Amino acid sequence: MEALTFAHSHVPLQHFARVNSSHFFIKTQVESQHKQKQEKKKKKTTFVATTSTKGTAEVSEKPSTVLTSREKPLKTSSSTPPLKKLSTESLQYESGYLGGVPDQFLRDATDDEREGIPNAMTYLTNILSSKVYDVAIESPLQYAAKLSERIGVNVLLKREDLQPVFSFKLRGAYNMMAKLSGDQLERGVICSSAGNHAQGVALAAQRLGCDAVIAMPVTTPEIKWKSVKRLGAKVVLVGDSYDEAQAYAKQRAEEEGRTFIPPFDHPDVIIGQGTVGMEIVRQAEEPLHAIFVPVGGGGLIAGIAAYVKLVCPQVKIIGVEPSDANAMALSLHHGQRIMLDQVGGFADGVAVKVVGEETFRLCRELIDGVVLVSRDAICASIKDMFEEKRSILEPAGALALAGAEAYCKYYGLKGETVVAITSGANMNFDRLRLVTELADVGRKREAVLATHMPEEPGSFKQFCELIGPMNITEFKYRYDASKKEALVLYRQVLLNFVGLHTVSELAAMVNRMESCQLRTMNLTTNDLVKDHLRHLMGGRSNVQNELLCRFVFPERPGALVKFLDTFSPRWNITLFHYRAQGETGANVLVGIQVPSSEMDEFRGCVDSLGYEYTDEMSNAAFRLLMQ
Ligand SMILES: Cc1ncc(COP(=O)(O)O)c(C=O)c1O
Repeated sequence: MEALTFAHSHVPLQHFARVNSSHFFIKTQVESQHKQKQEKKKKKTTFVATTSTKGTAEVSEKPSTVLTSREKPLKTSSSTPPLKKLSTESLQYESGYLGGVPDQFLRDATDDEREGIPNAMTYLTNILSSKVYDVAIESPLQYAAKLSERIGVNVLLKREDLQPVFSFKLRGAYNMMAKLSGDQLERGVICSSAGNHAQGVALAAQRLGCDAVIAMPVTTPEIKWKSVKRLGAKVVLVGDSYDEAQAYAKQRAEEEGRTFIPPFDHPDVIIGQGTVGMEIVRQAEEPLHAIFVPVGGGGLIAGIAAYVKLVCPQVKIIGVEPSDANAMALSLHHGQRIMLDQVGGFADGVAVKVVGEETFRLCRELIDGVVLVSRDAICASIKDMFEEKRSILEPAGALALAGAEAYCKYYGLKGETVVAITSGANMNFDRLRLVTELADVGRKREAVLATHMPEEPGSFKQFCELIGPMNITEFKYRYDASKKEALVLYRQVLLNFVGLHTVSELAAMVNRMESCQLRTMNLTTNDLVKDHLRHLMGGRSNVQNELLCRFVFPERPGALVKFLDTFSPRWNITLFHYRAQGETGANVLVGIQVPSSEMDEFRGCVDSLGYEYTDEMSNAAFRLLMQ
């Protein structure tokens, strides 16, 4: 087990100092910049660790500028009053349902109440004169023929995945940066991002000939920081989380007089993103029922709404969020910005714990609500897009498509025209395996079931007869001499004439099994089964005092050792399962033997470890498959 590091082997850290438990380090990658005046050769990368007085350690590079150690650790909280912390679970509704509907806050506000707040008209005029086309293309609005036929609604795709850096983010970044004075451009810009905003800022800086520093968490995959470097920006890998990278960027902006370019919460960024709405209005040839927009911090939807709601107020502007990253839906529901205690990282482009202040204000005034979708539905939409246009979207990029389909089905819409923004294509290749696995579940073409079978001759044959016309794509069984019954876990596909299995067909099969005393459970929607247990089958055993927990390990060197240091040898580890799924954190399932008298001590250790943690003891699938 110790051989697992959960580290990206490419991360060229040669030395790092670890001080106290905070395990904080910075790595800089400086490369020759885009301008001729700068040196052409790449500088030699030698890493040197330095420690500061307050529990931080930096690894920086020689002979280029070594970052000065900071006297104070970075603060990641802002001075504004703390936001209410809520879990994503506190607001869940059926996929496709229009929830998170805003109250009437600013819709009915008087001009006095609005004083000092830029209104939608100010946004609209600024959107009309935005200069984003120095870097962005007017992306096509394309008809999705297969999807439209399948759901009976005309679906138009606004192809922001075709932008030069494969997402719309360069619009906002460029719009803000193009407004900077010559002096500000001379002093350079800085931003923090692990993804598309970083590339947007880097490209904008390249076009404007200004120096850009991009702070990214050390966990950022190589593919992402390399593409930013390729655009000529300086990359600083800093901190374990986005919050730490952001704190660093803001502090360095202050120290060096650089302009901080926020990813969503700034009027000029919102105006840049709003040009997407302007194009849709211009390009659409028929009246639109709704525009579906993916929501992270809310910059894209706020910009689109600011334009469209003034020009065509009858068009609904509907946000789409993953069920496990529903910060906007929750904020609208409560009438105030809230902070998520945990956020799902699958659609990393929209994994935001708090939406922006200005974006929230605009959304509260202008949008019609938020649809929530599952990870499986996002994967199904990635597959739809591939089948439609042979393009691969990243999860956040397919979010709006998943929301549009779910909404149209939920409300039984027919014959209308809707737009879904395909917002990005920066897909981490490693994630494709999981996407293909979940796509069929999301499209309800595949089911995961478990059946108890008597350990006696002929029962397997009987089982196969009962399965009927369904194709089995995976089957797991292991003999256990001590048991009278075996448990088989299987995935199956049923294609009827429209290529779908229905809930009733599955239920009928489960009934057939049950009537022959073969107890069967439908586990299709159980995430614990999909991520872990189905790969662990055959490992059933009766372990005393076994706790089952899911941890999210940070993807960085030392994460596993830190975990083991915390629990072992104090408690025995009875199960360990990790399968790379291309997420920002490693999703690990752990079995651990803890006598009930030691539970308080165990919980204290879990808290001190600081990794996200979920107790899975009440998950029925655990008892069924593992005990
Ligand atoms: C591909 C993609 N889609 C959607 C979003 C969400 O945009 P916003 O944060 O403006 O809501 C992002 C944000 O980075 C993104 O990268």
